[in-house]
Amino acid sequence: MSAARSRSRYRPRRVRLRDGREVTIREIEAGDASEIVAAFERLSSESRYSRFMQHKKQLDAGILERGVHPRPGLDFVLVATAPASDGIDIVGAAQYVRAQADDDKVCEFAITVAEGWRGNGLATALMSRLLRRARRDGYEAIEGQVLASNASMLALAHALRFSAERAADEPSVVCVRRELQTDAQEHPARQDPASTKK
Ligand SMILES: CC(C)(COP(=O)(O)OP(=O)(O)OC[C@H]1O[C@@H](n2cnc3c(N)ncnc32)[C@H](O)[C@@H]1OP(=O)(O)O)[C@@H](O)C(=O)NCCC(=O)NCCS
Repeated sequence: MSAARSRSRYRPRRVRLRDGREVTIREIEAGDASEIVAAFERLSSESRYSRFMQHKKQLDAGILERGVHPRPGLDFVLVATAPASDGIDIVGAAQYVRAQADDDKVCEFAITVAEGWRGNGLATALMSRLLRRARRDGYEAIEGQVLASNASMLALAHALRFSAERAADEPSVVCVRRELQTDAQEHPARQDPASTKK
């Protein structure tokens, strides 16, 4: 069955985290580029390594450009924003992109939550919304590559019912995968400790 690719905008939602702070979860916009760079620069080198699986001193222009211009119906990026003195800070981001150009059934995710915002259910809130959107976009499975040492991401993937398998050619990497047609996906609220306000 061919995938029905959605092009509708995502309605922004305010979400209260476990510690009482609130964020707005919304689709990324082209105008977020400078805040994405600022969020990257606030990350520790350890977090950058966990996210990109390589040491990065700065965000490549190509990654930034693709990140703020997702291809409608194929890629999707959610950001979590919090008020800041100069407007907003981006305190979390989750995305999927089509995994391979010739396969419209599988997408690949990545996620980052800012230090200082972790352990409050924000990644869970972002991922559960991302999974729903990926399914709506016609994907049948979502995958990701996680460092075997990344305990928090592996625990999050386990909590969201991803399967996990060591990469055959790279023992320090775990491939996680989630089918998008399961019962849990039908009831994503069960997976999401953060409450949606609007
Ligand atoms: C992985 C990451 C996104 C988790 O973000 P988070 O907002 O802290 O995650 P949540 O609060 O939603 O936690 C979800 C679950 O993950 C697990 N978890 C989170 N942090 C954990 C930790 N430090 N140790 C063990 N388990 C942890 C728990 O099972 C938790 O569920 P619970 O809150 O019900 O106990 C965050 O640590 C991060 O941005 N890391 C750097 C970037 C990265 O590694 N990205 C993944 C590669 S794509």
